[in-house]
Amino acid sequence: MIRAAPFPPRIVPRAMRRAAICLSLLSVAAGAAGAIGPASQAHAQSANPVPSHAWSFSGPLGTFDMAAVQRGYAVYDHVCSACHGMTALTYGDLGGMGLTEEQVARIAHAHRMPTGGDAAGKPVTRPATADDHLRSPYATPALAAAANHGAHPPDQSRLEVVYPGGASRMRALLLGYGQAPPAGMQVPAGSFYNPYAANGMIAMPPPLHDGGVTYADGTAPTTAQQADDVVTFLTWAARPHLEERHRTGVRVVVFLLVLLVLTFCLKRRIWSDVH
Ligand code: HEC
Repeated sequence: MIRAAPFPPRIVPRAMRRAAICLSLLSVAAGAAGAIGPASQAHAQSANPVPSHAWSFSGPLGTFDMAAVQRGYAVYDHVCSACHGMTALTYGDLGGMGLTEEQVARIAHAHRMPTGGDAAGKPVTRPATADDHLRSPYATPALAAAANHGAHPPDQSRLEVVYPGGASRMRALLLGYGQAPPAGMQVPAGSFYNPYAANGMIAMPPPLHDGGVTYADGTAPTTAQQADDVVTFLTWAARPHLEERHRTGVRVVVFLLVLLVLTFCLKRRIWSDVH
């Protein structure tokens, strides 16, 4: 039997072989980092540290608790949507929360869309369909600000992504009302002290109250429960592909690990008779 000549020849320095192994290890590490994704990145922002919270969706293997996402939509629909729009989402997108087409159609049907005016100039509306986008309660940002002491309630479609501090800070903000402001701080009328708001003040009145919504699944609607659920919903809405990305990340890491083992075996075989 003819034995293949050793390749690469001896002139390849040992340092290069080491570099190749390091490169493989690095690519595995990079894959793992990619799998973790931005959901778990800390956006340390303000002076008040945010109490950490164990979200089902954080970490490289995180998944959404769809029951919580559905409860969170109920909170958004009953409470937040009075002031905040979510215009990047259609009612059809809500099907991704694990709802059937009929359930989506029923939710859409309960909301009205403007269709202009009738002959007498009176505004006319029709029931929404799955293709309609969730509406903003205000026609323009200026009208929104005028109705809210000059502060415009931001659209919540992607708020969890752009909000400094993400999900945990949002939860802390929602639960951070009702504390006495530090001595010397003047809180003007129409503003509320909240240690997790920028400058410690916010124009949003405390939106959550115990029993503020009724949950279809019978969960007790405490303020803390509503905060967890609505933040889970807003995160799902802002990162609809998070679970898919996590699954891809895990597959990539497994693939790279297998490749690493194969590369190592190959390297040992190729260099087996080089001393
Ligand atoms: C009565 C109207 C109103 C309701 C209801 C309301 N918000 Fe707001 N929200 C506002 C206003 C106004 C602002 C802008 C505040 C500011 O800039 O000072 C705001 C801002 C926010 C911010 C950004 C805060 C910041 O520091 O920029 C978040 C997060 C938020 N709201 C979440 C919610 C959630 C979640 C709900 C539902 C549970 C909700 N809001 C219900 C009026 C409201």
